[in-house]
Amino acid sequence: MASAILSAGLAVAQVDYSQYVSPLIGSEGPFPGLAFGGGDIFVGAALPFGVAKVGIDTYEDNTTFSTLNGGYTPQGRVTAISMMHESGTGGAPKYGIVPQMPLSTLEGVDVLDNTTYWQQRVGEDTARVGYFATQLESGVGVQLSAGTHSGIMEYDFPAGGEKHVLVDLSHYLPSETGGSGNQAYVAGAIDLQPGGKVYTGYTTVGGGWGESAPMTVYVCGEFEQAPDQANTFSGRLTDPIQRYHTWSNGPVPQAVFSNLSEVSGPLNNRVGALFTWSNASSSTVRSRVGISLISADKACDFKNKEIGSWNLNNTVNAAVQKWNTDVFSKIQVPTDSSQNRTNLVLLYSSLYFMHLMPSDRTGENPLWSNDEPSWDDFYTLWDIFRCTTSLYHLIQPERYVSMIQALIDIWRWEGFMPDGRSGNYNGLVQGGSNADNVLADAYVKKLAGINWTEAYQAMLKDAEVVPYNTFSFTDFTASVKEGRGALYDWIPLGYVSSDRSTRAVSRSVEYALNDFSLSQVARGVAPNDTQKYLRRSAQWQNIWAHNVTHKNFTGFLAPRLSSGAFNISGYNPALCGGCEWSAISYEGTPFEYSFTIPHDMQTLIHFMGGPAEFERRLDYIFMPNTSEQNLGANGAGITTLINIGNEPDFATPYEYNYLNKQYKSVQQSRSLANTYFHDAPYGVPGNSDAGALNSWLIWQMLGLYPVVTQPVYLIESPWFSDINMTINGNATLRITATGLDNANSYYVQSVKVNGQQWNQNWLEHSDVMVSGGTIEYELGSESKLWESGDVPPSPGHLVL
Ligand SMILES: *[C@@H]1O[C@H](CO)[C@@H](O)[C@H](O)[C@H]1NC(C)=O
Ligand SMILES: *[C@@H]1O[C@H](CO)[C@@H](O)[C@H](O)[C@H]1NC(C)=O
Ligand SMILES: *[C@@H]1O[C@H](CO)[C@@H](O)[C@H](O)[C@H]1NC(C)=O
Ligand SMILES: *[C@@H]1O[C@H](CO)[C@@H](O)[C@H](O)[C@H]1NC(C)=O
Ligand SMILES: *[C@@H]1O[C@H](CO)[C@@H](O)[C@H](O)[C@H]1NC(C)=O
Ligand SMILES: *[C@@H]1O[C@H](CO)[C@@H](O)[C@H](O)[C@H]1NC(C)=O
Ligand SMILES: *[C@@H]1O[C@H](CO)[C@@H](O)[C@H](O)[C@H]1NC(C)=O
Ligand SMILES: *[C@@H]1O[C@H](CO)[C@@H](O)[C@H](O)[C@H]1NC(C)=O
Ligand SMILES: *[C@@H]1O[C@H](CO)[C@@H](O)[C@H](O)[C@H]1NC(C)=O
Ligand SMILES: *[C@@H]1O[C@H](CO)[C@@H](O)[C@H](O)[C@H]1NC(C)=O
Ligand SMILES: *[C@@H]1O[C@H](CO)[C@@H](O)[C@H](O)[C@H]1NC(C)=O
Ligand SMILES: *[C@@H]1O[C@H](CO)[C@@H](O)[C@H](O)[C@H]1NC(C)=O
Repeated sequence: MASAILSAGLAVAQVDYSQYVSPLIGSEGPFPGLAFGGGDIFVGAALPFGVAKVGIDTYEDNTTFSTLNGGYTPQGRVTAISMMHESGTGGAPKYGIVPQMPLSTLEGVDVLDNTTYWQQRVGEDTARVGYFATQLESGVGVQLSAGTHSGIMEYDFPAGGEKHVLVDLSHYLPSETGGSGNQAYVAGAIDLQPGGKVYTGYTTVGGGWGESAPMTVYVCGEFEQAPDQANTFSGRLTDPIQRYHTWSNGPVPQAVFSNLSEVSGPLNNRVGALFTWSNASSSTVRSRVGISLISADKACDFKNKEIGSWNLNNTVNAAVQKWNTDVFSKIQVPTDSSQNRTNLVLLYSSLYFMHLMPSDRTGENPLWSNDEPSWDDFYTLWDIFRCTTSLYHLIQPERYVSMIQALIDIWRWEGFMPDGRSGNYNGLVQGGSNADNVLADAYVKKLAGINWTEAYQAMLKDAEVVPYNTFSFTDFTASVKEGRGALYDWIPLGYVSSDRSTRAVSRSVEYALNDFSLSQVARGVAPNDTQKYLRRSAQWQNIWAHNVTHKNFTGFLAPRLSSGAFNISGYNPALCGGCEWSAISYEGTPFEYSFTIPHDMQTLIHFMGGPAEFERRLDYIFMPNTSEQNLGANGAGITTLINIGNEPDFATPYEYNYLNKQYKSVQQSRSLANTYFHDAPYGVPGNSDAGALNSWLIWQMLGLYPVVTQPVYLIESPWFSDINMTINGNATLRITATGLDNANSYYVQSVKVNGQQWNQNWLEHSDVMVSGGTIEYELGSESKLWESGDVPPSPGHLVL
């Protein structure tokens, strides 16, 4: 057995799965050429969970329809090549820091006014795993690649022309529409080594969507050839948005140049350097850059160790190998020429996107020092707890342990685990304290290496302590930094009230699942607490209005006042009042949230009027034109109530399994996947949310769906005839399917698990996810009621 596993591993290592990755999927939204409404993805070079994500920053002139969150936009002007990015995030941009910008002339350039050197691109960009290339209108060709904390850039200038590289350490990605989510440059410094071949320095930037305190990133940059001239510069602080171009409405200031060193000083001056080459025999300038959150020395070490050669191809090849070994080969499907290439692209591109974030900052924690791992860019757990982290559990077990240890360490030092975290700072919390769900999911699947006593203490903090109010511009009523802001309602009232709190409906159902998570861990760690949190996990029932009828469906989650009365006159559960921070529910309507009780589907089905009514209601949300709420960019092009572009609905298509009508789950979920996920720039329905949408698609293609906080997977229908998944380190789960003959042949006819006929439409983690195993699907075009066993469990079943 061991040798069979070994030889399979060797055979697969030879397949270059990276050829199936399209890093541009999600780079565009419904309006061609604009990123708006698209995936907000990072496009550039990065390693799995890398600190450095090296890519271009851009500016879109159409500020009403602009989205710069991943740096990249299809047609925006290039403002720099920078070292750090997020991927898939909504809200306002974060990072886009530590830049270089190649300039073919200095004529008309004011280094403090980047509009004087922004560049359109010509031709098509090239994006592959570990590699990005673009051509600027100035004639400069840009190629880049990345190491874990480093990048290598190659600039090909027009022959015989001027060659300059600008390093503006005050550069960051702006929020084009302004507002409180804008980042702010706080300070910086730059030092040139004599001759200017090497520069070191730092930039300190705060703010952004998460309202972070400033974070300092150190840099160490080197050029292959020493420049012929190198000058530092310093100038007055200006804001990136043109309408606030200077703080005083005055003219754009000019920089003062000098020789070796600049520090921003008390006035937060912008600092940078300008490098010039006059060697006429070479038109290429190469640079390698390291970054560190600890020191410039460490940044230099990363640069030297990770980028060992000036041949960019070597870094690209190393990146491709790392991605193949660490990520893509974990899920192996047939790649011979008879396979549907689109499906290969969707699978391996999705794996790519779910491994760009969070960022593994182990050894790079500037806030405290200990031996614990350190991770950042959980942006956010609200997105990734639903099915992304459950996939990390299977295919990245070591890194997943490390991530969870880091979450607990943040609680240990800062008092709360994050829900969102970026720039070394907790925030924002969109609903519940969803680290609880991540921990519970890992606990019930017996992830080794976690101190569960401490994990439970961290969860108790979320469940019992009202976080202090940071009076965020997004919501003045309670903290959105960390913890559960509306505990002041949840504990005494048993629900989040709609008069004292925002997002009352969505937070009530999220807090319920969070408390179910506590009960799951308490079962082993603090048995006395189990019942208490199980009861609290049923408190969603306190906002269930049994008498609200909408579109002939009766019984919905509904706003309830702190007085105890429901506030339902004129209430329409298909509307949410914008679905943002101050709405009654967040990024989904109460109609949708009324399906999100994974721990007690039994009660939910009962509350909706029993299996037949539940089925009728499920059928309804998939019908065109049932959506009544305009979700703006979040719902672009979607007319059904179900919105697979937003995480609250992720599990809903699979709920037919709870009626033992699995074929309908298969049909509805496939239909969503085929309608909204494509091998195209507009290939994901909205922000990919750090890869959350992509991981939803992977589960769909595997023919499984995890029920978060339970050691349970729903059985669906795989897209490939043969899948070998390397799970739990070195075990193999093999999923095979016969009958995938034509486009409509995907209904389950029968299933065997570990060789045994299986008559229930779900399985447990221990069945195949620990030592491996087999799932054998027989598929066909007949929609068959094949299951007769128990429906999936409702371990939180309790009627208040
Ligand atoms: C911005 O883009 C949108 C969508 O394509 C378009 O409707 C609008 O007219 C554009 N605005 C400007 C100022 O170009
Ligand atoms: C323009 O320059 C400012 C200051 O360096 C920088 O903060 C901003 O991010 C730049 N704008 C863009 C769109 O890159
Ligand atoms: C930088 O130093 C060189 C050599 O000492 C000198 O010629 C030049 O004027 C200096 N440049 C500036 C901007 O101070
Ligand atoms: C000029 O560039 C050529 C080609 O890259 C290189 O071999 C040579 O060393 C450079 N000369 C100087 C003075 O930098
Ligand atoms: C780098 O790889 C590309 C594509 O494989 C090839 O065309 C190019 O010649 C290589 N360059 C070097 C310097 O090895
Ligand atoms: C899966 O593993 C089995 C057993 O090693 C092997 O025969 C089969 O070819 C593999 N399938 C794929 C798609 O790699
Ligand atoms: C490949 O699969 C996609 C769906 O992922 C489908 O749209 C397409 O028709 C398939 N191509 C072929 C040749 O079967
Ligand atoms: C777990 O953490 C607790 C509390 O800090 C500590 O007392 C205990 O020794 C730890 N257990 C292990 C196995 O490290
Ligand atoms: C658990 O509850 C039992 C019975 O109420 C009590 O005797 C015991 O001390 C409790 N244990 C803890 C750890 O609180
Ligand atoms: C609906 O039910 C709630 C809770 O039981 C009750 O307060 C309310 O009066 C009822 N409304 C109507 C119109 O029956
Ligand atoms: C309303 O739903 C009931 C089942 O609950 C069904 O019998 C009835 O036909 C429906 N009425 C309309 C107008 O759809
Ligand atoms: C498989 O992983 C387990 C747990 O990490 C380890 O003990 C075992 O030695 C590994 N086996 C092989 C063949 O690598």
